[in-house]
Amino acid sequence: PEQSGCDEAGVLTVGGVSVAELAEKYGTPLHVIDETGLRRQARSFAEGLKERWPNSEVLYASKSLPIVEMYRVAQQEGLAIDVAGGGELRMALAAGVDPRLLHFHGNAKTDAELAHALEVGIGVIIVDNEDELDRLEQLLTRPQRLLLRVIPGVDAVTHASQATGGDRSKFGLPMDQALRAIDRMQAHPLMDFEGVHLHIGSQILGTSQFAEAVEKLATAGRFKTYDVGGGLGVKYTYDDDAPTVEAYLDAIVAAAKEHLPADAKLMIEPGRSVVARAGITLYRVVSVKHTGDVFVAVDGGMADMLDVALTDQRFEAVLANRLAEPWEETVQLVGRQCESGDLLVDGAPMPAARPGDLVAIATTGAYSYTLANNYNGALKPAIVFVADGEARLVVRRESYEDLLALHAPAIG
Ligand code: LLP
Repeated sequence: PEQSGCDEAGVLTVGGVSVAELAEKYGTPLHVIDETGLRRQARSFAEGLKERWPNSEVLYASKSLPIVEMYRVAQQEGLAIDVAGGGELRMALAAGVDPRLLHFHGNAKTDAELAHALEVGIGVIIVDNEDELDRLEQLLTRPQRLLLRVIPGVDAVTHASQATGGDRSKFGLPMDQALRAIDRMQAHPLMDFEGVHLHIGSQILGTSQFAEAVEKLATAGRFKTYDVGGGLGVKYTYDDDAPTVEAYLDAIVAAAKEHLPADAKLMIEPGRSVVARAGITLYRVVSVKHTGDVFVAVDGGMADMLDVALTDQRFEAVLANRLAEPWEETVQLVGRQCESGDLLVDGAPMPAARPGDLVAIATTGAYSYTLANNYNGALKPAIVFVADGEARLVVRRESYEDLLALHAPAIG
Protein backbone atom coordinates (compact mmCIF):
# COMPACT_ATOMS: atom_id res chain seq x y z
CA PRO A 1 0.00 0.00 0.00
CA GLU A 2 0.90 3.64 -0.51
CA GLN A 3 1.16 4.31 3.24
CA SER A 4 3.41 1.42 4.24
CA GLY A 5 6.85 1.15 5.76
CA CYS A 6 9.06 -0.62 8.25
CA ASP A 7 9.50 0.26 11.92
CA GLU A 8 12.74 0.11 13.97
CA ALA A 9 12.08 -3.48 14.93
CA GLY A 10 11.88 -4.47 11.25
CA VAL A 11 8.11 -4.89 11.33
CA LEU A 12 5.88 -3.85 8.42
CA THR A 13 3.67 -0.84 9.10
CA VAL A 14 0.55 0.15 7.20
CA GLY A 15 -1.06 3.54 7.70
CA GLY A 16 1.45 4.13 10.49
CA VAL A 17 0.38 1.03 12.45
CA SER A 18 2.61 -1.99 13.11
CA VAL A 19 1.12 -5.15 11.63
CA ALA A 20 2.40 -7.07 14.69
CA GLU A 21 0.07 -4.94 16.83
CA LEU A 22 -2.80 -5.45 14.39
CA ALA A 23 -2.31 -9.22 14.39
CA GLU A 24 -2.14 -9.25 18.18
CA LYS A 25 -5.27 -7.17 18.62
CA TYR A 26 -7.52 -8.43 15.82
CA GLY A 27 -6.15 -11.92 15.13
CA THR A 28 -5.25 -13.50 11.78
CA PRO A 29 -6.04 -13.94 8.93
CA LEU A 30 -6.70 -10.22 8.79
CA HIS A 31 -7.36 -7.86 5.90
CA VAL A 32 -5.77 -4.45 6.42
CA ILE A 33 -6.81 -1.50 4.25
CA ASP A 34 -4.75 1.68 3.95
CA GLU A 35 -7.60 4.18 4.02
CA THR A 36 -5.51 7.17 2.91
CA GLY A 37 -4.28 5.41 -0.23
CA LEU A 38 -7.73 4.01 -0.90
CA ARG A 39 -9.37 7.43 -0.74
CA ARG A 40 -6.68 9.00 -2.90
CA GLN A 41 -7.14 6.30 -5.54
CA ALA A 42 -10.94 6.71 -5.52
CA ARG A 43 -10.56 10.47 -5.95
CA SER A 44 -8.04 10.08 -8.76
CA PHE A 45 -10.71 8.26 -10.78
CA ALA A 46 -13.52 10.66 -9.93
CA GLU A 47 -11.51 13.85 -10.50
CA GLY A 48 -9.48 12.46 -13.40
CA LEU A 49 -12.53 11.56 -15.45
CA LYS A 50 -14.35 14.82 -14.64
CA GLU A 51 -11.33 16.84 -15.83
CA ARG A 52 -11.16 14.97 -19.10
CA TRP A 53 -14.88 14.56 -19.82
CA PRO A 54 -17.04 16.74 -17.54
CA ASN A 55 -20.33 14.99 -18.30
CA SER A 56 -19.22 11.77 -16.64
CA GLU A 57 -19.62 9.49 -13.67
CA VAL A 58 -17.34 6.94 -12.03
CA LEU A 59 -19.10 3.98 -10.42
CA TYR A 60 -17.32 1.92 -7.82
CA ALA A 61 -17.84 -1.74 -8.83
CA SER A 62 -18.66 -2.82 -5.32
CA LYS A 63 -18.32 -6.57 -5.96
CA SER A 64 -14.56 -6.06 -5.57
CA LEU A 65 -14.98 -5.23 -1.87
CA PRO A 66 -18.65 -5.16 -0.85
CA ILE A 67 -18.50 -4.01 2.75
CA VAL A 68 -20.64 -1.31 4.32
CA GLU A 69 -17.67 0.93 5.16
CA MET A 70 -16.44 0.83 1.58
CA TYR A 71 -19.80 2.03 0.21
CA ARG A 72 -19.54 4.96 2.61
CA VAL A 73 -15.98 5.81 1.50
CA ALA A 74 -16.89 5.54 -2.19
CA GLN A 75 -19.81 7.92 -1.83
CA GLN A 76 -17.71 10.37 0.22
CA GLU A 77 -15.04 10.42 -2.48
CA GLY A 78 -17.51 11.25 -5.21
CA LEU A 79 -18.18 7.86 -6.77
CA ALA A 80 -21.56 6.43 -7.71
CA ILE A 81 -21.98 2.70 -7.12
CA ASP A 82 -22.52 -0.48 -9.08
CA VAL A 83 -24.40 -3.18 -7.17
CA ALA A 84 -24.94 -6.68 -8.51
CA GLY A 85 -27.68 -8.28 -6.49
CA GLY A 86 -29.90 -7.80 -3.47
CA GLY A 87 -27.06 -8.25 -0.95
CA GLU A 88 -24.87 -5.51 -2.38
CA LEU A 89 -27.95 -3.29 -2.71
CA ARG A 90 -28.76 -3.73 0.97
CA MET A 91 -25.19 -3.04 2.07
CA ALA A 92 -25.12 0.15 0.00
CA LEU A 93 -28.41 1.29 1.52
CA ALA A 94 -27.18 0.38 5.00
CA ALA A 95 -24.16 2.62 4.35
CA GLY A 96 -26.53 5.49 3.66
CA VAL A 97 -25.80 5.73 -0.07
CA ASP A 98 -28.34 7.80 -1.99
CA PRO A 99 -30.30 5.17 -4.00
CA ARG A 100 -30.21 7.44 -7.03
CA LEU A 101 -26.43 6.84 -7.17
CA LEU A 102 -26.89 3.08 -7.45
CA HIS A 103 -26.67 1.15 -10.70
CA PHE A 104 -28.10 -2.35 -10.60
CA HIS A 105 -26.26 -5.03 -12.60
CA GLY A 106 -26.75 -8.74 -13.15
CA ASN A 107 -27.65 -11.28 -15.78
CA ALA A 108 -30.26 -13.02 -13.59
CA LYS A 109 -31.96 -10.41 -11.44
CA THR A 110 -34.93 -11.99 -9.72
CA ASP A 111 -38.45 -10.53 -9.46
CA ALA A 112 -37.89 -9.88 -5.77
CA GLU A 113 -34.61 -8.06 -6.38
CA LEU A 114 -36.06 -5.90 -9.15
CA ALA A 115 -39.13 -5.08 -7.07
CA HIS A 116 -36.96 -4.07 -4.11
CA ALA A 117 -34.66 -1.97 -6.31
CA LEU A 118 -37.64 -0.14 -7.79
CA GLU A 119 -39.22 0.34 -4.39
CA VAL A 120 -36.11 2.05 -2.96
CA GLY A 121 -35.79 4.28 -6.03
CA ILE A 122 -32.68 2.82 -7.64
CA GLY A 123 -30.89 5.20 -10.03
CA VAL A 124 -30.26 3.01 -13.06
CA ILE A 125 -30.98 -0.60 -13.97
CA ILE A 126 -28.59 -2.16 -16.47
CA VAL A 127 -30.85 -4.50 -18.42
CA ASP A 128 -29.19 -7.76 -19.44
CA ASN A 129 -31.83 -9.66 -21.41
CA GLU A 130 -35.39 -9.66 -22.75
CA ASP A 131 -36.81 -11.70 -19.86
CA GLU A 132 -35.74 -8.87 -17.61
CA LEU A 133 -37.65 -6.46 -19.86
CA ASP A 134 -40.75 -8.67 -19.51
CA ARG A 135 -40.37 -8.44 -15.73
CA LEU A 136 -39.85 -4.70 -15.77
CA GLU A 137 -42.98 -4.29 -17.88
CA GLN A 138 -44.92 -6.00 -15.11
CA LEU A 139 -43.23 -4.13 -12.25
CA LEU A 140 -42.81 -0.54 -13.42
CA THR A 141 -45.23 2.00 -12.00
CA ARG A 142 -43.16 5.13 -12.67
CA PRO A 143 -40.40 6.12 -15.11
CA GLN A 144 -37.14 4.23 -14.62
CA ARG A 145 -33.71 5.02 -16.07
CA LEU A 146 -32.31 2.03 -17.96
CA LEU A 147 -29.12 1.08 -19.77
CA LEU A 148 -28.69 -2.04 -21.88
CA ARG A 149 -25.68 -4.31 -21.62
CA VAL A 150 -24.33 -5.28 -25.02
CA ILE A 151 -21.82 -7.93 -26.04
CA PRO A 152 -19.10 -6.05 -27.85
CA GLY A 153 -17.13 -8.97 -29.29
CA VAL A 154 -13.93 -7.72 -27.69
CA ASP A 155 -11.77 -10.61 -26.54
CA ALA A 156 -9.89 -9.11 -23.63
CA VAL A 157 -6.36 -10.37 -23.00
CA THR A 158 -6.74 -11.75 -19.48
CA HIS A 159 -7.52 -15.02 -17.67
CA ALA A 160 -10.46 -16.83 -19.36
CA SER A 161 -12.61 -16.58 -16.22
CA GLN A 162 -12.10 -12.81 -16.20
CA ALA A 163 -12.95 -12.11 -19.87
CA THR A 164 -16.55 -11.06 -20.32
CA GLY A 165 -16.69 -9.29 -23.66
CA GLY A 166 -16.11 -12.14 -26.13
CA ASP A 167 -18.84 -13.34 -28.51
CA ARG A 168 -19.77 -16.23 -26.21
CA SER A 169 -20.25 -14.08 -23.09
CA LYS A 170 -23.23 -14.89 -20.89
CA PHE A 171 -23.60 -11.18 -20.09
CA GLY A 172 -25.70 -8.85 -22.23
CA LEU A 173 -27.11 -9.15 -25.74
CA PRO A 174 -25.31 -9.34 -29.08
CA MET A 175 -25.73 -6.20 -31.19
CA ASP A 176 -28.63 -7.42 -33.40
CA GLN A 177 -30.72 -8.51 -30.41
CA ALA A 178 -29.67 -5.39 -28.52
CA LEU A 179 -31.20 -3.19 -31.20
CA ARG A 180 -34.53 -5.03 -30.81
CA ALA A 181 -34.45 -4.60 -27.02
CA ILE A 182 -33.62 -0.91 -27.43
CA ASP A 183 -36.66 -0.44 -29.73
CA ARG A 184 -38.78 -2.09 -27.07
CA MET A 185 -37.50 0.19 -24.30
CA GLN A 186 -37.80 3.32 -26.41
CA ALA A 187 -41.43 2.47 -27.16
CA HIS A 188 -42.39 1.93 -23.51
CA PRO A 189 -43.78 4.97 -21.67
CA LEU A 190 -42.13 4.14 -18.33
CA MET A 191 -38.79 2.93 -19.69
CA ASP A 192 -36.38 5.83 -19.76
CA PHE A 193 -33.73 4.23 -21.98
CA GLU A 194 -30.51 6.22 -21.74
CA GLY A 195 -27.84 4.18 -23.48
CA VAL A 196 -25.55 1.20 -23.57
CA HIS A 197 -23.15 -0.56 -21.24
CA LEU A 198 -20.41 -3.10 -21.72
CA HIS A 199 -17.71 -4.68 -19.59
CA ILE A 200 -14.94 -6.50 -21.42
CA GLY A 201 -13.26 -8.21 -18.46
CA SER A 202 -11.03 -7.77 -15.45
CA GLN A 203 -7.29 -7.36 -14.72
CA ILE A 204 -6.69 -5.96 -18.22
CA LEU A 205 -3.17 -4.60 -18.52
CA GLY A 206 -3.32 -2.74 -21.85
CA THR A 207 -5.25 0.45 -22.58
CA SER A 208 -6.00 -0.19 -26.27
CA GLN A 209 -8.68 -2.75 -25.40
CA PHE A 210 -10.65 -0.09 -23.56
CA ALA A 211 -10.37 2.25 -26.54
CA GLU A 212 -11.66 -0.57 -28.73
CA ALA A 213 -14.56 -1.09 -26.31
CA VAL A 214 -15.57 2.58 -26.57
CA GLU A 215 -15.53 2.27 -30.35
CA LYS A 216 -17.76 -0.83 -30.15
CA LEU A 217 -20.21 0.97 -27.84
CA ALA A 218 -20.56 3.73 -30.39
CA THR A 219 -21.65 1.25 -33.07
CA ALA A 220 -24.83 0.53 -31.08
CA GLY A 221 -26.17 3.99 -31.96
CA ARG A 222 -26.35 7.56 -30.69
CA PHE A 223 -27.57 7.75 -27.12
CA LYS A 224 -27.39 9.94 -24.03
CA THR A 225 -25.09 7.62 -22.02
CA TYR A 226 -22.22 5.20 -22.64
CA ASP A 227 -20.86 3.03 -19.83
CA VAL A 228 -17.51 1.37 -20.60
CA GLY A 229 -17.54 -0.92 -17.53
CA GLY A 230 -14.50 -1.70 -15.38
CA GLY A 231 -11.49 -3.92 -15.83
CA LEU A 232 -8.33 -1.84 -15.39
CA GLY A 233 -5.63 -4.21 -14.15
CA VAL A 234 -3.26 -3.53 -11.28
CA LYS A 235 0.34 -4.40 -10.44
CA TYR A 236 0.42 -7.49 -8.22
CA THR A 237 3.99 -8.71 -8.61
CA TYR A 238 7.33 -7.00 -9.06
CA ASP A 239 7.23 -8.13 -12.72
CA ASP A 240 3.75 -6.78 -13.53
CA ASP A 241 3.37 -3.59 -15.48
CA ALA A 242 -0.05 -1.94 -15.19
CA PRO A 243 -1.23 1.30 -16.78
CA THR A 244 -1.70 4.30 -14.49
CA VAL A 245 -5.21 5.62 -13.86
CA GLU A 246 -4.24 8.66 -15.92
CA ALA A 247 -3.09 6.58 -18.92
CA TYR A 248 -6.30 4.54 -18.72
CA LEU A 249 -8.51 7.63 -18.57
CA ASP A 250 -6.55 9.25 -21.41
CA ALA A 251 -7.14 6.21 -23.62
CA ILE A 252 -10.86 6.03 -22.87
CA VAL A 253 -11.45 9.73 -23.30
CA ALA A 254 -9.41 9.92 -26.51
CA ALA A 255 -11.61 7.14 -27.94
CA ALA A 256 -14.73 8.87 -26.62
CA LYS A 257 -13.73 12.12 -28.35
CA GLU A 258 -13.32 10.23 -31.59
CA HIS A 259 -16.41 8.02 -31.47
CA LEU A 260 -19.07 9.29 -29.05
CA PRO A 261 -21.41 12.27 -29.39
CA ALA A 262 -19.76 15.29 -27.73
CA ASP A 263 -22.68 15.81 -25.33
CA ALA A 264 -22.93 12.17 -24.23
CA LYS A 265 -22.47 11.08 -20.64
CA LEU A 266 -19.47 8.79 -20.13
CA MET A 267 -19.36 6.25 -17.31
CA ILE A 268 -16.75 3.79 -16.07
CA GLU A 269 -16.97 1.12 -13.35
CA PRO A 270 -13.60 0.37 -11.78
CA GLY A 271 -13.53 -2.09 -8.89
CA ARG A 272 -10.17 -3.82 -8.57
CA SER A 273 -8.16 -0.73 -9.50
CA VAL A 274 -9.87 1.29 -6.75
CA VAL A 275 -9.29 -1.11 -3.85
CA ALA A 276 -6.70 -3.78 -4.70
CA ARG A 277 -3.49 -1.96 -3.86
CA ALA A 278 -4.80 -0.47 -0.63
CA GLY A 279 -5.13 -3.92 0.93
CA ILE A 280 -2.82 -6.49 2.46
CA THR A 281 -3.67 -9.76 4.18
CA LEU A 282 -1.87 -10.88 7.33
CA TYR A 283 -1.39 -14.51 8.25
CA ARG A 284 0.41 -16.28 11.07
CA VAL A 285 2.88 -19.04 10.16
CA VAL A 286 1.72 -22.34 11.66
CA SER A 287 4.27 -24.81 10.35
CA VAL A 288 7.43 -24.98 8.26
CA LYS A 289 8.38 -28.18 6.49
CA HIS A 290 11.51 -29.00 4.44
CA THR A 291 10.74 -31.84 2.03
CA GLY A 292 12.81 -30.84 -0.95
CA ASP A 293 10.42 -27.91 -1.22
CA VAL A 294 10.12 -25.56 1.74
CA PHE A 295 6.45 -25.38 2.71
CA VAL A 296 5.49 -22.45 4.89
CA ALA A 297 1.89 -23.08 5.98
CA VAL A 298 -0.24 -20.25 7.35
CA ASP A 299 -3.51 -20.00 9.29
CA GLY A 300 -5.61 -19.12 6.22
CA GLY A 301 -5.67 -20.15 2.60
CA MET A 302 -7.99 -20.52 -0.36
CA ALA A 303 -11.04 -20.11 1.90
CA ASP A 304 -10.08 -16.46 2.34
CA MET A 305 -7.90 -16.02 -0.79
CA LEU A 306 -9.64 -17.87 -3.58
CA ASP A 307 -8.15 -15.79 -6.37
CA VAL A 308 -5.03 -17.90 -6.79
CA ALA A 309 -7.09 -21.02 -7.46
CA LEU A 310 -9.82 -19.19 -9.43
CA THR A 311 -7.79 -16.97 -11.72
CA ASP A 312 -4.17 -18.05 -11.18
CA GLN A 313 -3.50 -14.60 -9.76
CA ARG A 314 0.10 -14.25 -8.56
CA PHE A 315 0.92 -12.30 -5.41
CA GLU A 316 4.02 -11.17 -3.53
CA ALA A 317 4.48 -12.06 0.14
CA VAL A 318 6.89 -10.88 2.83
CA LEU A 319 7.80 -12.10 6.29
CA ALA A 320 6.21 -9.05 7.86
CA ASN A 321 7.82 -9.17 11.32
CA ARG A 322 11.36 -9.67 9.94
CA LEU A 323 11.60 -7.25 7.03
CA ALA A 324 15.19 -6.22 7.75
CA GLU A 325 16.57 -9.78 7.62
CA PRO A 326 18.13 -11.12 4.43
CA TRP A 327 16.25 -13.64 2.30
CA GLU A 328 17.52 -17.17 2.89
CA GLU A 329 15.14 -19.40 0.97
CA THR A 330 12.39 -19.44 -1.61
CA VAL A 331 9.29 -21.05 -0.19
CA GLN A 332 5.94 -22.44 -1.21
CA LEU A 333 3.55 -20.34 0.82
CA VAL A 334 0.57 -22.63 1.36
CA GLY A 335 -2.76 -22.41 3.12
CA ARG A 336 -4.52 -24.84 5.44
CA GLN A 337 -7.36 -26.01 3.21
CA CYS A 338 -7.49 -29.59 1.96
CA GLU A 339 -6.46 -28.97 -1.66
CA SER A 340 -3.07 -29.04 -3.34
CA GLY A 341 -4.26 -25.95 -5.23
CA ASP A 342 -4.31 -24.11 -1.92
CA LEU A 343 -1.04 -22.39 -2.76
CA LEU A 344 -0.92 -18.69 -1.92
CA VAL A 345 2.47 -17.89 -3.43
CA ASP A 346 4.48 -20.26 -5.61
CA GLY A 347 8.03 -19.23 -4.78
CA ALA A 348 8.29 -16.46 -2.20
CA PRO A 349 11.80 -15.41 -1.14
CA MET A 350 12.10 -14.80 2.62
CA PRO A 351 14.25 -15.27 5.72
CA ALA A 352 13.92 -18.79 7.20
CA ALA A 353 10.36 -18.66 8.54
CA ARG A 354 9.39 -20.03 11.95
CA PRO A 355 5.98 -20.80 13.46
CA GLY A 356 4.53 -17.60 14.91
CA ASP A 357 6.04 -15.34 12.23
CA LEU A 358 3.73 -13.02 10.34
CA VAL A 359 3.27 -13.20 6.59
CA ALA A 360 1.78 -10.31 4.64
CA ILE A 361 0.45 -10.77 1.13
CA ALA A 362 0.23 -7.53 -0.82
CA THR A 363 -2.47 -6.22 -3.16
CA THR A 364 -5.37 -8.14 -1.66
CA GLY A 365 -7.93 -5.33 -1.37
CA ALA A 366 -10.03 -6.60 -4.30
CA TYR A 367 -11.77 -9.95 -4.80
CA SER A 368 -10.38 -11.52 -1.63
CA TYR A 369 -12.83 -10.85 1.21
CA THR A 370 -15.72 -10.93 -1.26
CA LEU A 371 -14.82 -14.45 -2.43
CA ALA A 372 -14.19 -15.79 1.09
CA ASN A 373 -16.03 -18.97 1.97
CA ASN A 374 -16.34 -21.54 4.74
CA TYR A 375 -14.37 -24.36 3.11
CA ASN A 376 -13.21 -26.78 5.82
CA GLY A 377 -15.30 -24.75 8.25
CA ALA A 378 -13.00 -21.74 7.84
CA LEU A 379 -14.24 -18.46 9.28
CA LYS A 380 -14.27 -15.28 7.19
CA PRO A 381 -11.52 -12.87 8.31
CA ALA A 382 -11.96 -9.47 9.91
CA ILE A 383 -11.16 -6.22 8.09
CA VAL A 384 -9.50 -3.18 9.62
CA PHE A 385 -9.00 0.26 8.05
CA VAL A 386 -5.80 2.01 9.08
CA ALA A 387 -4.86 5.69 8.71
CA ASP A 388 -2.62 8.15 10.54
CA GLY A 389 -1.46 5.63 13.10
CA GLU A 390 -4.99 4.49 14.03
CA ALA A 391 -6.82 1.26 13.22
CA ARG A 392 -10.56 0.70 13.25
CA LEU A 393 -12.42 -2.56 12.83
CA VAL A 394 -14.91 -2.30 9.95
CA VAL A 395 -15.88 -5.98 9.57
CA ARG A 396 -15.60 -8.34 12.50
CA ARG A 397 -14.24 -11.85 12.15
CA GLU A 398 -16.84 -14.55 11.66
CA SER A 399 -17.26 -16.67 14.79
CA TYR A 400 -17.97 -20.36 15.29
CA GLU A 401 -21.37 -19.22 16.64
CA ASP A 402 -22.06 -17.45 13.31
CA LEU A 403 -21.11 -20.63 11.49
CA LEU A 404 -23.30 -22.92 13.58
CA ALA A 405 -26.28 -20.55 13.64
CA LEU A 406 -27.25 -21.55 10.10
CA HIS A 407 -27.55 -25.24 10.82
CA ALA A 408 -30.01 -27.60 12.44
CA PRO A 409 -30.50 -28.05 15.35
CA ALA A 410 -29.67 -24.35 16.02
CA ILE A 411 -32.40 -23.34 13.57
CA GLY A 412 -34.97 -25.31 15.54
N1 LLP B 1 -18.58 -3.84 -14.10
C1 LLP B 1 -19.07 -5.07 -14.29
C2 LLP B 1 -20.34 -5.24 -14.97
C3 LLP B 1 -18.35 -6.18 -13.81
O1 LLP B 1 -18.82 -7.40 -14.00
C4 LLP B 1 -17.12 -5.99 -13.13
C5 LLP B 1 -16.34 -7.12 -12.61
C6 LLP B 1 -16.67 -4.67 -12.95
C7 LLP B 1 -17.42 -3.62 -13.47
C8 LLP B 1 -15.39 -4.35 -12.23
O2 LLP B 1 -14.28 -4.87 -12.86
P1 LLP B 1 -12.83 -4.57 -12.24
O3 LLP B 1 -12.56 -3.11 -12.45
O4 LLP B 1 -12.87 -4.94 -10.83
O5 LLP B 1 -11.94 -5.45 -13.05
N2 LLP B 1 -13.33 -12.93 -9.62
C9 LLP B 1 -12.42 -12.29 -10.51
C10 LLP B 1 -12.87 -10.92 -10.93
C11 LLP B 1 -14.25 -10.89 -11.45
C12 LLP B 1 -14.68 -9.54 -11.95
C13 LLP B 1 -16.15 -9.51 -12.13
N3 LLP B 1 -16.71 -8.34 -12.72
C14 LLP B 1 -11.10 -12.20 -9.85
O6 LLP B 1 -11.02 -12.54 -8.67
O7 LLP B 1 -10.16 -11.79 -10.46
